[in-house]
Amino acid sequence: MQARIVVLPGDGVGPEVTREAVACLRAVAEGFGHTFTFQDCLIGGAAVDACGDPLPEATLMACKAADAVLLGAVGGPAWDKHPRAQRPESGLLRLRQGLGLFANLRPVSVHPALEDASPVKAEVVRGTDMMIVRELSGGLYFGEPRSYSPERALNTLPYDRPEILRVARVAFDLARNRRQKLVSVDKANVLETSRLWREVVTELGAEYPEVALTHAYVDSFAMSIIARPRDFDVVLTENLFGDILSDEAAVLAGSLGLLPSASLGGTVGLYEPIHGSAPDIAGQDKANPVGTILSAAMLLRHALGLKAEAEALEAAVDRTLHEGHGTSDLQGAKHAHGTASLGATIRKALVAKKVLDVILPS
Ligand code: NAD
Ligand code: IPM
Ligand code: MN
Repeated sequence: MQARIVVLPGDGVGPEVTREAVACLRAVAEGFGHTFTFQDCLIGGAAVDACGDPLPEATLMACKAADAVLLGAVGGPAWDKHPRAQRPESGLLRLRQGLGLFANLRPVSVHPALEDASPVKAEVVRGTDMMIVRELSGGLYFGEPRSYSPERALNTLPYDRPEILRVARVAFDLARNRRQKLVSVDKANVLETSRLWREVVTELGAEYPEVALTHAYVDSFAMSIIARPRDFDVVLTENLFGDILSDEAAVLAGSLGLLPSASLGGTVGLYEPIHGSAPDIAGQDKANPVGTILSAAMLLRHALGLKAEAEALEAAVDRTLHEGHGTSDLQGAKHAHGTASLGATIRKALVAKKVLDVILPS
């Protein structure tokens, strides 16, 4: 198949991790006989520096015309004092909204080889496998009115019924095909928005009798996700809660650098690791590329419908981690790598797997 992929390296470690993921996609294309073309575009601080806009019109146009978009990360101290419209993060938020991406899928699982990489006990994290579904284009991030002055600032947390319904439907559909459990996380004991959220999710639950729906308050859920992570299957929540809970859940996996995401809902999907530009390690070949490489696997599956190819790339990552390869963020990795060399090791595993598949077809 032919596919056009727009690559948005962004800032900090973004270019380092997207380089490895693109190389993996090229290896997949070669191994499976596909033609992928890659077009790099500017976003974030890099775009602010180049043309004064964190999401240039040309970038948005290219993304809209692509089959999928792969993004590294945006932001960094160089732009932290800029007014909101000139901040790198505004570019990413405008891109998500511009592409109509309301459902952000953030899978969190614990690789057997990394059970000791988490500061949480191995017997607690073992077997964790959840899918966080984060609402991505509403809530506090976009709510109006909003304002800032040195004396008073205001943000607003609106959600309307259709916005809740469409993301909840995504979560129920996922739950139906997983372990049939869905927990919806809110703050309905305090917030009107959450009260509506809970009502709408409960009503929709009637259409999914096979899915066991529960509700949790975000404060106690933040504890439960660490105390008994195995209990959760699909987790549905609003934009800001999902942002916070997914970084927290990364502690279970062993590193923030491991977790991928897919943002869906519009005609073109956006695939990016959940981590940021990691200014503290940028430019040092230290960033873990696995989150971005697994995002590329999600791209193969969701954007291009290439299931076997996605599984092959995931299997290559699995095998690489299983053999003890890792970057320095992974506690206890037997074989220490930089970003580029871990990417190359994953590609070697991919090629080896392909050869085995030919010799020993299943
Ligand atoms: P961060 O996610 O960049 O980093 C948090 C910590 O995790 C740091 O210690 C970092 O070194 C580590 N880390 C992150 N990614 C890693 C990787 N791949 N491998 C190894 N270690 C990794 O969060 P932050 O420091 O709070 O934010 C830095 C900048 O990134 C800010 O400007 C923020 O707005 C931006 N940000 C962007 C995105 C995005 O583009 N999607 C996401 C989060 C934060
Ligand atoms: C993420 C990031 C973004 C968010 C920022 C950079 C706008 O933290 O993708 O998780 O808050 O959504
Ligand atoms: Mn975040």
